[in-house]
Amino acid sequence: MSAGAVADLFQRSFGAAPAVIASAPGRVNLIGEHIDYNGGEVLPIAITSRTFVALGPSGGSRSRAVSREETTAGEFVNADGMPAGAWWDYVHGALRQAGCDAPVAIAVASDVPVGAGLSSSAALEVATVLAAWSWRDVPWTPDSVAMAAHRAERDFVGVPCGIMDQYASACARADHALRVWCDDARTAFVPFDRDVLIVDTGDPRHLRSSAFADRRQSCEAALRVLQEASPGVRALAHADPQLVAAALHGESLRRARHVVSEQARVHRVVEALARGEPLGALLLDSHRSLRDDYECSSPRLDWVVEWAMTRPEVDGARLTGAGWGGCAIAVGDRGALRDVATALATAFEARWGPAPRTWITGAGDGARREG
Ligand code: GLA
Repeated sequence: MSAGAVADLFQRSFGAAPAVIASAPGRVNLIGEHIDYNGGEVLPIAITSRTFVALGPSGGSRSRAVSREETTAGEFVNADGMPAGAWWDYVHGALRQAGCDAPVAIAVASDVPVGAGLSSSAALEVATVLAAWSWRDVPWTPDSVAMAAHRAERDFVGVPCGIMDQYASACARADHALRVWCDDARTAFVPFDRDVLIVDTGDPRHLRSSAFADRRQSCEAALRVLQEASPGVRALAHADPQLVAAALHGESLRRARHVVSEQARVHRVVEALARGEPLGALLLDSHRSLRDDYECSSPRLDWVVEWAMTRPEVDGARLTGAGWGGCAIAVGDRGALRDVATALATAFEARWGPAPRTWITGAGDGARREG
């Protein structure tokens, strides 16, 4: 995908050249899953697939949005109205959170896969905020773009997600992972020069949103119990594992145990990357914790992870993103994963039916103005 493609679409749809173009990537999370809304640290990378947004004045009283990947076009008033349950809700919410009251024309062209858990919605929100602010010469930083895009997802679209996806899309840097402290939104870059194989299991997503909200509630309830026992605990990710083991039971214990153990693994992965040490055992432990304690894996995700770990080129595999379907990742040296992807797709097809979509990505750049 390119700025030229979205400029062409804008010209064809609205009969003029766009005033600005911005782009933003999807993401995969290397480690730190279900940690962002528990106040801990996460370690995503931007993928190299991007969403391009071209923007200009609409010439009418309503904003209009078209997409190269969608058949329906949207019309709305930026400062008014509810989500329509349509793809342009992300655009509408982002324009509103960007404080853009003027009616605009928007064209979208993207190669970030939709519905695979690679944060296509965050990429669209981030690119839209950046386009709107660039158009109006509003001063911005990657962090301020991420925050506005996150408010669009949480407050307008109504998804109770943490800040990871919008931060990864807005703030990432090529050849680095982005360490985000989700309690105070600090960030740091961690050099990451390896490849990541992404495998879309194609599992249906319908359970994902209700199960996600359910897990958030379980974590909030577990935190309240811990705070009764020890008032100083400020976020579940920072709780003492011994306190978790002593104060919680059953399902609540399992959910919280995932969170505190995953947080410790993030620190160990950051250290391993700095020392050039293998990641395999840490990523696999993360997957097992998500499978057994957080219960957000699926049979296909488990199968992909187990299959990938049999290959010597793979240094760690795990589900990425929310889970309950979506994508698994496998990490390897640059250029080493092509044969793995081919063999995995063949084996997956033999076991589960249609071959999965796969991508190999390095760590890409975050959002930028294109023109
Ligand atoms: C989804 C949410 C993120 C994060 C992950 C799980 O991608 O949008 O905020 O909670 O799940 O780590």
